[in-house]
Amino acid sequence: MLDLRKLSFPLLHAWHAVLGGGFLVSYLTADEDTYAMHQFAGYVVLAAIIVRIAVGLLAPSGHPWRLPRPSIAAIRSWFKKRRGRNPFFAWIAVVLLGVVGMAALTGAIADFVTKTEDLHEGIAETSMWIVLGHIAFVIAIYKGRKIAGRFNGRLLPGRELKEAGQ
Ligand code: HEM
Ligand code: HEM
Repeated sequence: MLDLRKLSFPLLHAWHAVLGGGFLVSYLTADEDTYAMHQFAGYVVLAAIIVRIAVGLLAPSGHPWRLPRPSIAAIRSWFKKRRGRNPFFAWIAVVLLGVVGMAALTGAIADFVTKTEDLHEGIAETSMWIVLGHIAFVIAIYKGRKIAGRFNGRLLPGRELKEAGQ
């Protein structure tokens, strides 16, 4: 029998690839000549966000698809111990889901209401900066740990991911 629980993580990664790919394609095709592609990729992003939120709301506690829950208390306790999952991931994930979702939603609205094109463009440009910040943060956390681990020899292979809560 197909065990859906085992597939949760691979499915989340596949979802992330569809979302990230759709986002990049829509950003790069936001031109009149390539409007059909822009429209298609943009709607893929919108559908991906809707699926993520719907599944996230239905998923039981502790499930990988549960929506991220940012908390100030988690940041405070993380700074005291400096161990465990970095609490900023949850904040960044919520901001990303919100801003990328708004970029796609305002795009869908601009498809019918031309007046809202400027608003859509503004949110889309802002979302790109946040996505770039997200990629920089992920590289800083994961690569930084790997490189530091290699230099001081204290981190065993794979340990850096466990320490990050993965
Ligand atoms: C090379 C590029 C990228 C890398 C390495 C990367 C990596 C990651 C990682 C490791 C996480 C999980 C963070 C966690 O533990 O909570 C994540 C989450 C996320 N990423 Fe990316 N990402 C990339 C590009 C993008 C792009 C282009 C988008 C555009 C929309 C994006 C949107 C998101 C969102 C919305 C989440 C939150 C997922 C959720 O919990 O629902 N990422 N990313
Ligand atoms: C997250 C996904 C999306 C991103 C990153 C994005 C990005 C952009 C950007 C940067 C522009 C400005 C282009 C320019 O004038 O230089 C734009 C314009 C536009 N987008 Fe999107 N968009 C997305 C989703 C959508 C969706 C779902 C639709 C619906 C069909 C859409 C419809 C439009 C329209 C109608 C314009 C104005 C076109 C024009 O000025 O010729 N977008 N988009």
